[in-house]
Amino acid sequence: MAKKINVTSEADISTFYNPSDFNNRLGLLELMKAGAVPDLELMNNIGLFLDRRILSRFLFVNELYQKMMHLHGNIFEFGVRYGQNLSLFTSLRGIYEPYNYNRRIVGFDTWEGFPAVHSNDKEKWKKGDFGVPEGYEKFLTNVLLQHEKMAPIDHIQKFTLVKGDATKTIKEYLANHQETIISLAYFDFDIYKPTHDCLEAILPYLSKGAVIGFDEINTPEWPGETKAFREVLGTNNFSVVHSTYRANAGYIIYE
Ligand SMILES: C[S@@+](CC[C@H](N)C(=O)[O-])C[C@H]1O[C@@H](n2cnc3c(N)ncnc32)[C@H](O)[C@@H]1O
Repeated sequence: MAKKINVTSEADISTFYNPSDFNNRLGLLELMKAGAVPDLELMNNIGLFLDRRILSRFLFVNELYQKMMHLHGNIFEFGVRYGQNLSLFTSLRGIYEPYNYNRRIVGFDTWEGFPAVHSNDKEKWKKGDFGVPEGYEKFLTNVLLQHEKMAPIDHIQKFTLVKGDATKTIKEYLANHQETIISLAYFDFDIYKPTHDCLEAILPYLSKGAVIGFDEINTPEWPGETKAFREVLGTNNFSVVHSTYRANAGYIIYE
């Protein structure tokens, strides 16, 4: 029997959004699907349908990349889901440092949603939330390979998707990759336990000056992320930088 997958949709989590904003975005979706722009032109003109919120995300990822790119090391994303950030990191590498094949991009996710939720997280979140369609990581692999083909040195695959509960896979990954230096770690698990365990696990691998980003810092919906930060790194040991582009996201420079 096929495994039952809980594919959480944007509508399920739309409590985050102002309802009129959400409806306006649906309006843009309808306009995009209306087919006024021919298929091939659609990708060239994707900005037509890019709302402020999504554009802000892109600009924020660019800010993180620029803060990190003078350092040697890899980019780790914790909580990948559909993988937009991995795509953006790949494109930014193609823009800023196309010949830096040493900069690898590593993404951790179950691609089955939350494997568990801790008592340090809000009660409303459940195991399986943020699920994606079964086998999605294979589709994402193809998307990222396609992006890599559009930059130099495409015969070397420069990304790794690590599937499974990251509280376990991070330790296996690092044990098997003792060459690792991390220049940018982006935390978007949203919840306490994997944020805590992965932060702790990567400490010996961080470059001085590494950027550690948090998607939901100081955010009441997601107290676990900040609690993990406080416990592992200490809130008063770092300035938490607030980006102009995002209200909830922030980052520290690990010095
Ligand atoms: C908010 S989503 C990530 C969103 C993504 N970064 C983006 O920008 O679209 C949170 C992700 O964390 C993953 N996740 C949460 N706990 C995890 C764990 N212990 N191990 C692996 N993945 C986990 C979920 O499967 C989910 O895909």
